[in-house]
Amino acid sequence: MQENRKHLLGLEGVPAEEIKLILDTAESFKEVLDRPIPKVPTLRGKTIVNLFFEASTRTRFSFELAEKRLSADTLNFSTTASSVKKGETLRDTAQNIEAMKVDMVVIRHPASGAPHFLRHWIKGSVINAGDGCHEHPTQALLDMKTIQGIHNEFKGLRVAIVGDIIHSRVARSNIYGLTTMGAEVALCAPAPLIPYEAEKWNLKTFYNVDDAIAWADVLMVLRIQLERQSQNFFPTLREYHNYFGITRERLEKANKKITLMHPGPINRGIELDSDLADDPEYSVILDQVTNGVAIRMAILYLLSGETK
Ligand code: CP
Repeated sequence: MQENRKHLLGLEGVPAEEIKLILDTAESFKEVLDRPIPKVPTLRGKTIVNLFFEASTRTRFSFELAEKRLSADTLNFSTTASSVKKGETLRDTAQNIEAMKVDMVVIRHPASGAPHFLRHWIKGSVINAGDGCHEHPTQALLDMKTIQGIHNEFKGLRVAIVGDIIHSRVARSNIYGLTTMGAEVALCAPAPLIPYEAEKWNLKTFYNVDDAIAWADVLMVLRIQLERQSQNFFPTLREYHNYFGITRERLEKANKKITLMHPGPINRGIELDSDLADDPEYSVILDQVTNGVAIRMAILYLLSGETK
């Protein structure tokens, strides 16, 4: 890691050698996780708090497990069981937790930029576990680890990100991370689901999903985030499925090997056919989840400045 890197707020601007270091370090933690006793004393004596202001299954459990596998002490915070319910602000919450002398804060928040704000109020490291529609760096790193396990090389690999790109922090972090590592990234969605900022990304864009499938080695399918949609971006979910849903018929028509990814949670039958999500010939969705623990162990270890 960069000598002075203390936080992981996003992948925008993170250089290739740092991403490579995280992926390589995760490889050694994968070996730890395969041992009969999958635990190391690396972060013994460190205290980590998981601040989740938004629902999560994969990221929250994955961080907690990574912390436990590294022997850290962990505290878990959820909005419904905290004084946020009584109107306490993010700054007050953070400073009160800081007063208990924690070393690292993992934060998920519905507001884009919340982790960036938090880092000014606490002395420990801040790790972004997903902020609004902005970034989800640990998800993109576990996605890259999964891609690397199948395709070895990023250079020249074609990854099509399909679906609700405008609302997707997973898409943004993957676009930054994958392009830094030399992959070719393309977007595929109905025009209203492509954000204005895509202009600056300067990526190939498909408005026909069959063309995207024909082009890609990897399909990264995104959840339609109905909870973030304040207006209608397409007429109906059925119409979305008909035009942009990933179906067996579409993959078989392409007649080639393709890697199917999804960050979860999946809207089965909307962005992705249910049986495809479970088909080991295409889907690596649960491998993504497995790799998440090793990636998060690597990040916690590298930011802690500890030696193994
Ligand atoms: N991929 C992901 O962030 O899932 P959760 O919302 O369950 O953490």
